[in-house]
Amino acid sequence: HVAVLDFGSQYTQLIVRRVRELGYFAKLYRPEDVAEIGKPGAIILSGGPKSTSEADAPDIDFATLDAYGVPVLGVCYGMQLLNIKFGGEVKASDKREYGQAIMKPVACEGLYEGVSAESQVWMSHSDTVSNLPDGCSVIAVNQHDTPVSLQWGERYFGIQYHPEVTHSHEGTRILGNFLMMAGDLQPFRIEEFRREIIDGIRDRVGDKQVVCGVSGGVDSTVLAVLLHEAGVNMRAIFVDNGLLRKDEAAEVVNNFHRMGVPIEKVDASERFLTALAGETAPEKKRVIIGNLFLDVFWDAVGDAEILAQGTLYPDVIESASNENSKASKIKTHHNRVDRVLELQAQGKVLEPLAELFKDEVRELGASLGIAKDILNRHPFPGPGLAVRCPGDITKEKLDIIREVDAIFISRLKDHGWYDKVWQAYGALVPVKTVGVKGDERSYEWACSLRAVVSEDAMTADWVELPYSILRESSNMILNSVAGINRVLFDVSSKPPASIEWE
Ligand code: XMP
Repeated sequence: HVAVLDFGSQYTQLIVRRVRELGYFAKLYRPEDVAEIGKPGAIILSGGPKSTSEADAPDIDFATLDAYGVPVLGVCYGMQLLNIKFGGEVKASDKREYGQAIMKPVACEGLYEGVSAESQVWMSHSDTVSNLPDGCSVIAVNQHDTPVSLQWGERYFGIQYHPEVTHSHEGTRILGNFLMMAGDLQPFRIEEFRREIIDGIRDRVGDKQVVCGVSGGVDSTVLAVLLHEAGVNMRAIFVDNGLLRKDEAAEVVNNFHRMGVPIEKVDASERFLTALAGETAPEKKRVIIGNLFLDVFWDAVGDAEILAQGTLYPDVIESASNENSKASKIKTHHNRVDRVLELQAQGKVLEPLAELFKDEVRELGASLGIAKDILNRHPFPGPGLAVRCPGDITKEKLDIIREVDAIFISRLKDHGWYDKVWQAYGALVPVKTVGVKGDERSYEWACSLRAVVSEDAMTADWVELPYSILRESSNMILNSVAGINRVLFDVSSKPPASIEWE
């Protein structure tokens, strides 16, 4: 495998991910555990937030590292540390280099085989190597001819920029070139990875009881199935908040039955509707729903010995670094509330997916035998249909949205468009307009259909669905959904609109 020694950079997990993408098994270790990394085929030292000149800068036992006899790549902090180990110097600079830079390989060979003469890279550092030791060669420079990549002897390489981020355009190729120099690397196989995660769960849980909240979404479903496969004593709790889509609660319960995973449904729909009655302010609606969810969930949990959460790596990063997106803020709300933090301090929180990205969770889910339709479900917000109905929420309005949404989604599925869009749904526009139904004047609400593509929900664009799908959806909705006499198609991008209505 490829051993990645983590010096604390927020990008370290991305290195692991890139190695997996390149088809090899990678594992994270703490630098102080360098003696216990098994039989690595290659070693990567990550970047880190410290400066090598700081008194408490993390270090590595170089003799132990060297004894593995395998290719070593130092990224950013890792490169500076290697330069010091080889007798060179690192100078703290007062100028922080941050953002895009140009990287020019000295020769297109070795680490830079097949890499362009100039390519964009991403920098984030303040120290630079100053004194280069004997036997060290510069293998790439930046636009000012400052060294940004070094080689010491045959098997030690350093890169000042971050090859693991997508802003470094040829980063993956460079990492791939590095891995080509490694001996026999273990290919990444999802089955082995799954076994490792399951073994990890067994070790952590033992014979204690674990609870997890499930929503029917991908992350929590994969989590529950993993716990079940691990054979631990588990309870999966599903809160029906009355804001779910048509037949959704029954479907979730049914899916779990199909997979043989026990699930406990708590029907709290009345409580949610009562709590929401008359409230029109979007943020207040969210707070009501968020807090009530926690009350209901913790009531059901009782005295949990261990709480399992389906936190993914981007959630970990986002809650640590930015709170820009509503999705991450709300997830933070649920996954990092005081009660969870308390449990965490006591070592009672288990997050087996915290090293994974969404697509990797899907792959893991598929290898667990979870059905495609569950793994490919569109995202659905925690506050459910409440954010798809501006203004106050009533059961009547929710029922209308459910019908509209079910028709639209069924049209997308029938015509092969469901998997082509990132998220789609029907919403209520609670504005009454005049129409004619049969021979009578009607005075009813409008509804809106929305379909978007997105990478990460931060930005999104509306999808040019075929007119035939819109026509079919509209016909069916107008003919069968009482209370609706007008169908609109939402052609707003995010920004400035958001994906949901609230
Ligand atoms: P917006 O409306 O902010 O939505 O453009 C971006 C993405 O986040 C989802 N979303 C939420 N997910 N809890 C969630 O778990 C929430 O409160 C929430 N609000 C929005 C939304 O469905 C879209 O995918």
